[in-house]
Amino acid sequence: MFCLGIEGTAHTLGIGIIDENGKILADVRKVYSPPLGKGIIPNEAAKHHEKNKEIVLKEALNQVNLEIDEIDGIAYSAGPGLPPCLSSVSNFANKLAKKYKKKLIPVNHMLAHVEIGKLVTKARDPIVVYVSGGNTMILGLVENKYRVFGETLDIPLGNALDVVAREMGLPMPGGPQLDELAKKGKFVNLPYIVKGMDLSFSGIVTACIKKLKEGVKKEDIAFSLEEVCFSMLTEVTERALAHTGKNEVLLVGGVAASKILQEKMERMCKERGARVFYLPQEYARDNGVMIAWVGMLFLKSKKIPKIERRFRARWRIEEVEIPWV
Ligand code: ATP
Ligand code: FE2
Repeated sequence: MFCLGIEGTAHTLGIGIIDENGKILADVRKVYSPPLGKGIIPNEAAKHHEKNKEIVLKEALNQVNLEIDEIDGIAYSAGPGLPPCLSSVSNFANKLAKKYKKKLIPVNHMLAHVEIGKLVTKARDPIVVYVSGGNTMILGLVENKYRVFGETLDIPLGNALDVVAREMGLPMPGGPQLDELAKKGKFVNLPYIVKGMDLSFSGIVTACIKKLKEGVKKEDIAFSLEEVCFSMLTEVTERALAHTGKNEVLLVGGVAASKILQEKMERMCKERGARVFYLPQEYARDNGVMIAWVGMLFLKSKKIPKIERRFRARWRIEEVEIPWV
């Protein structure tokens, strides 16, 4: 069996093809880059996807030497994401499925990040820590749904790091820059904000900017910011482990590349006899393979999810029923 997956919730248009054993057969990506110094312009990203969809599809099919007739299902990222991009990708997937009489599988983008992480790392039933520029969530599968145990109440952690780095005049993305600076810093006091199982970063960012203006060294701010934010994240992850009795942690998303975060999680997990898994950056980024894999999981379980609209710009992972547990 083969499943083709189309990702296009934001900047990346990706098409992947995977078989029923999770063997990755094709992976083609084209990334829209916004004008220098600007954020993503949704309509421009959608135009990028429109312009490149046929080329990316052709390249993906060429990589496996398959005809589209031989594919069993067409999965696509149906949300959450930017509406113009979702509209473009869902129309494309829909047309392909109709034309070639294939099963059409709408896939939740967050779920795809989680499941590709499990496939690549071979983690079985982890607490997933998803930390990127756009997301901060602590998730875990309970019965047949991924529950969100904790999440940010305001801005995502990657975004917080980038804002502080930008104030310091560092190049983007800011996370790796701060990681470097932090090695030479010492601790200055910053707020530590955990509310129940949720996290808040915007007050910490404000405090950092204030300290920067007062002349506190960049190294010290970088060190303290990471120290505080990563400790908060580790604390909530530990509680999610304790609450669920799980013994694996899977780190996904751009911020998971931080060695400082990895060390903190490792130390916590070692004390609890749990294991930490890291997703290589290649699959941490948006890609079509992750959509194809979730499509395949649905195909194999013979339960294709239905959504009332073709795409959903806001679609929470805990709304998806997981039939393969
Ligand atoms: P998504 O749309 O899934 O939220 P994204 O577009 O934000 O993802 P990612 O590549 O997952 O993209 O994450 C980017 C973020 O990761 C940036 O905020 C960046 O500063 C941060 N980052 C990257 N490398 C590191 C690092 N080594 N340490 C800390 N943060 C990092
Ligand atoms: Fe993503």
